[in-house]
Amino acid sequence: MSTRPRILVARAVFPETLHKLEQHFEVDSNQADTVLGPQELTERLKDKVGAFTTGSERIDAGVLAACPQLKVCANMAVGFNNFDVPAMTARKVLATNTPDVLTETTADFGFALLMATARRIAESEHYLRAGQWTKWSFDMFAGSEVHGSTLGILGMGRIGQGIARRGAHGFGMNVIYHNRSRLAPELEAACKARYVGKDELLASADHLVLVLPYSAASHHAIGAAELARMKPTATLVNIARGGIVDDAALAAALREKRIAAAGLDVYEGEPKVHPDLLTVPNVVLTPHIASATVPTRRAMADLAADNLIGFLVHGKPLTPLNPE
Ligand code: DGY
Repeated sequence: MSTRPRILVARAVFPETLHKLEQHFEVDSNQADTVLGPQELTERLKDKVGAFTTGSERIDAGVLAACPQLKVCANMAVGFNNFDVPAMTARKVLATNTPDVLTETTADFGFALLMATARRIAESEHYLRAGQWTKWSFDMFAGSEVHGSTLGILGMGRIGQGIARRGAHGFGMNVIYHNRSRLAPELEAACKARYVGKDELLASADHLVLVLPYSAASHHAIGAAELARMKPTATLVNIARGGIVDDAALAAALREKRIAAAGLDVYEGEPKVHPDLLTVPNVVLTPHIASATVPTRRAMADLAADNLIGFLVHGKPLTPLNPE
């Protein structure tokens, strides 16, 4: 019988990633790519020391209690709200994520979603495909200006800064941001970004992009009250996490044109999408793909695998969230 450490790869991954892991570990791989619920996850994880997870598998106190051999969970994502990190720390289970390797790709996507939302690209494409385009007209799909407008960013980590740089340097936007803490002056200068309070951010942004992590503190950070403070011409983009926006309140605001439009890559309870969002035309909806380019997904998979190898084989993970 093999004495190599046993790990679970909870979802389908690149064959090269699997091969790399198989050089070091006895791998139980869920190549069926089903999302493992708590019971199945526990069943497959209870005899493992490591797990390669994505944002879809929840590692909480219940799973941890049933998997006493578990030492490390490597998330193939920068976000880690699927991990109960305090519970993991209490049980001495290391958590790792994949920062940096997806920053620029995700910022590109945030900007693409902003552009698609402001310029009504998805809505007009559906119109054309449906055969409804019969003539040019002066106000057909007239959207809002991007260049020279005010870009608001809520959450100014690495991805937020990437979006700010694109807006300021590429599109001459006036960039304002709100964050738990203010950036160092040299970082503000690099992004040409000005720190403001949340109220000013909401009231002044022509385009508001959400890039903050999800936690109990950021749950429904954008709800009916916040939407009411935004300009009726404003757009809202969420590439952070569902749950930061109250999707029902957003759908109502979009329907009643209390804000102009929204672009969403993430949803409360995804992959389910609030049914009201599916019936309003002024929202661009994408299925959580902000980091989805082939090179970036390869880099994320590599980093997650290297975290498992680094920790279980060499005793040193690359990007730990709760180092000892
Ligand atoms: C991340 O890395 O957090 C992305 O949202 C992919 O899950």
